[in-house]
Parts: sequence; structure tokens; C-alpha cells
Amino acid sequence: MKPAIIPGPADRDLGLRVACSLGEATACEVERFPDGELRVALGPVRGADTYIVQGTHPPGHEHLVELLLLADAAHRAGAARVTGVLPYVAYARQDRRGTEGESVAGRVVADVLSAALDRVIALDLHTPTLEAFFSCPVEHLSAVPLLAERVRPLVDGHVVVAPDLGAVKRAQRYASLLGLETAAVRKHRISGREVEALGVDGDVRGRDVLVVDDMISTGATVVAAVRALRAGGARRALVVATHALFVPPADGLLGSLDLDAIVVTDSVPTALTTTPLDIVGVAPLLSDAIARMHTETSLADLVAQQ
Ligand code: R5P
Repeated sequence: MKPAIIPGPADRDLGLRVACSLGEATACEVERFPDGELRVALGPVRGADTYIVQGTHPPGHEHLVELLLLADAAHRAGAARVTGVLPYVAYARQDRRGTEGESVAGRVVADVLSAALDRVIALDLHTPTLEAFFSCPVEHLSAVPLLAERVRPLVDGHVVVAPDLGAVKRAQRYASLLGLETAAVRKHRISGREVEALGVDGDVRGRDVLVVDDMISTGATVVAAVRALRAGGARRALVVATHALFVPPADGLLGSLDLDAIVVTDSVPTALTTTPLDIVGVAPLLSDAIARMHTETSLADLVAQQ
């Protein structure tokens, strides 16, 4: 029996591409009542190893509830196993309390997903430790090798730069795949929309730079990093990230940087008008992972290396 692939409304195009390569998509109907409540209904999944392709990118609350209802519908319809395929996992940045009165939203989201799903496939989680927040198994895939291959022809002697100290391991991974040196920007986050660069660790004078991050949201981190790098004498700049949220004012902010390009994946449906954008598709990676899980084959070479 083939796996049942359900393209959720948050990632319909990506889900359809995954379904196409593995067979056909299972029908998925989502209706909104006048009061805003959702009703979902699925095609047949009885006895099927079922995969729901639905990330929780913005509007994250809506996409999260859709995913929970789809998972419930699949269980109730007799699916043998229900796996959530989340190209993007919301709230992953809230993995600890910053002040005494805060919640740990990453844990709350992991708890509800673990209760609804038998397994999770995730892509480049903001922090690998998030896997431990889930009580169900998580296959944590990485798009870094795909992205590194895409930029390989464009980076000749570039310095790979982490735009904050949290991205250093990711930068080292790119650097090792591409045979390049690394540097890092020391970042201070002032608010959700404001960051400042405190300095650059490493010599970038006269060098081209490849700035790497897991996600671009408002663009503030990339902008602060590139400005600091240019102040330190860097020349051309290329940016690569797995998740392109491009929350306003990202488009305008990034356009002010005169970047060579931004290379991202389609883990979030995205577009940009001010900067050349190169989008690497992750459907083959997700399809490969699903096919291996369905046949109980190892995913060792697909999972994120830290
Ligand atoms: C932070 O820790 C992340 O890795 C990203 O650097 C950050 O979340 C990007 O957000 P923004 O684009 O709003 O600065």
C-alpha cells in the first residue's frame, strides 16, 4: 500500500509536488465557518501510512490548528500512522524563558503536536535541541547540503559569516561543505524588529562574504550583519537561509543592501521584489524522507548534522 500524502492548505503546492513524486495526493478539504472556525475533511486514508505536509509559517496559529484538525481527521478515519511533515516549525525560537514571566512557547507547540501526531518530519529547526521538546519521534532533516550545492558556483574565496553567535555551527557546516573560512557577527537583539551588530569576529577586509542563517524574518539580522561586514571592509555579499518568512519590512530592508542574491528554500511560500531571489525546492528531500520512513529505511544521510 502506498503512503497517503495530504497537501495541507499552508503548503499546498509543496505538498502536491511531494504527492506527485510518491503517487497521488489524498483529497483535503478545509472550510471556514462564518465565525472563523475551521472544518476539515479528508479523502480515504484507512489503513494508510499517512503524511500531512503542513508547516506552521505565518499565520502560524491558523496553520497550527489546521494541522491539528487534519491529524485528528486522519486518526479518526483509520490511518495506520500519522506523520506531520513540517517544512517550517513556528515558535522554535522560543526555547527558553528570557524573563521570569514568559512561557516556553516552543515546548507548548511541541506538546500539542506530539499529542496529535505519531511522528514529525522537520526541516532545519531553529535549534536542534527542539527535537527533545517533542514526545514523539522527530526526523530532523537539513536543507544545508542542498543550499551549499546551489551556492557552490557563486562562492570563490568567500568568507562564510554567521550573522549572530547562534548561527556559528551552521556557518561551520557550510564552510566545511564549501571549503571556506568563517567569521561571525556579534548581534544584540533590541526587540522583535530591531537588532544591532556589536562587531565582527574574523577578518573580512577585502573579502566577499556568504552570510548564512536558518531563517530570515524581518530581515533585521541580515541587514545589521551585512552593514557591519561592509563597515569592516567586506565587498560583495550573498545571503543563504533555509526559511524565508520575509515579514514586512523585510523586502524593503533587504533591497537597501545591494546583495548579489538571496538563496532560500520553498519551506515557506515566499516572494521578494527588491533583491534577486533563488529558491531551492525541498520536495525531493521531503519525498525521499517519506519514502524511506514508509519502507523503514535509514534516513541517516538526510538528517541535520550539528
Ligand atoms: C535568530 O536567532 C535567527 O537565527 C535569525 O537570525 C532571526 O530570527 C532572523 O530574524 P530577523 O530577520 O527578524 O532578524
